[in-house]
Amino acid sequence: MPRHDNDRWDIVSSVGLTALMVAGGRAIESKRPDALIRDPFADALVSSTGGDLPVPTRLPHPGRDDDAEFEGIWSFTATHMGVRTRFFDDFFRQAWEDGVSQAVVLASGLDARAWRLDWPDGFAVYEIDQPKVLEYKEQVLAREGAHPRCAWHAVPIDLREDWPAALQQAGFDPSRPTAWLAEGLLPYLPDHAEERLFAAVHSLSAPGSRVAVEHIRSISALMDSNLERYQEITKQFGIEIDELVYDNDGRPDPDARLAELGWQAECSLGSELAERYGRPLDGALGDMPRQQRYVTARLPR
Ligand SMILES: C[S@@+](CC[C@H](N)C(=O)[O-])C[C@H]1O[C@@H](n2cnc3c(N)ncnc32)[C@H](O)[C@@H]1O
Repeated sequence: MPRHDNDRWDIVSSVGLTALMVAGGRAIESKRPDALIRDPFADALVSSTGGDLPVPTRLPHPGRDDDAEFEGIWSFTATHMGVRTRFFDDFFRQAWEDGVSQAVVLASGLDARAWRLDWPDGFAVYEIDQPKVLEYKEQVLAREGAHPRCAWHAVPIDLREDWPAALQQAGFDPSRPTAWLAEGLLPYLPDHAEERLFAAVHSLSAPGSRVAVEHIRSISALMDSNLERYQEITKQFGIEIDELVYDNDGRPDPDARLAELGWQAECSLGSELAERYGRPLDGALGDMPRQQRYVTARLPR
């Protein structure tokens, strides 16, 4: 079903399913001998929905072991998630080494960084996502006996609503430098919400703050180049990925938006990061790594 401004979801519907899929990629990547990340919670987070969604947590996936297309797509997805997760893990490590003491994960989904990274004492992590998505994650991790390794604050709200107010009500302190993350988020926001998001990040950022953003310049070009394969992935869940994302052609690049606001911005392509980590990204969704932009920016002190 196409998107509308008041749509909401849980972990097994609409945009929520995309959080489940990327967690599946992290689960697979975590088991590889040359894994770029280890996410010990991804399996439980994927497997606790109570349904029989075919999101794999290992390859080969039982029942699909002779399906080369399935295997190729999920193998690619796992490497892609390894590269992406590692890059943003390193972003947070660098931030805390530089003295930043709070982070905001915009659209955290099933991201388990608050539970798995070695945050320094007193570090606060705020996670914003749909109420039912955060509730699911918190319940699964509690049942697993996992505890956050930081001061974790759930901020259950839609990012098209007044999330800056909710964030501050949850204890966020705009006078302290912040590390912000928008990973796997922008394609799911309409133009006006993306514009407001960057304006809010800027207005809530003390000098010394930094931000990391995953960006695809043209969702429609990406869809055109990989459409059949995307659909192969998502039709297994009964969703059409092209109905979940917004056409973003013509939106300013995040690095341009941030530079205009006085931030010092940089960008790497997914293909470049994959090479740097020794895990070249080619195969099933071939063109995607060159369209994937990883933007980081700092607000000078
Ligand atoms: C592809 S998942 C990425 C999750 C997480 N960042 C990760 O990389 O594992 C997209 C996430 O964006 C969240 N999301 C998208 N639009 C949102 C909105 N308007 N309000 C709150 N969350 C949103 C979804 O609920 C979902 O968890």
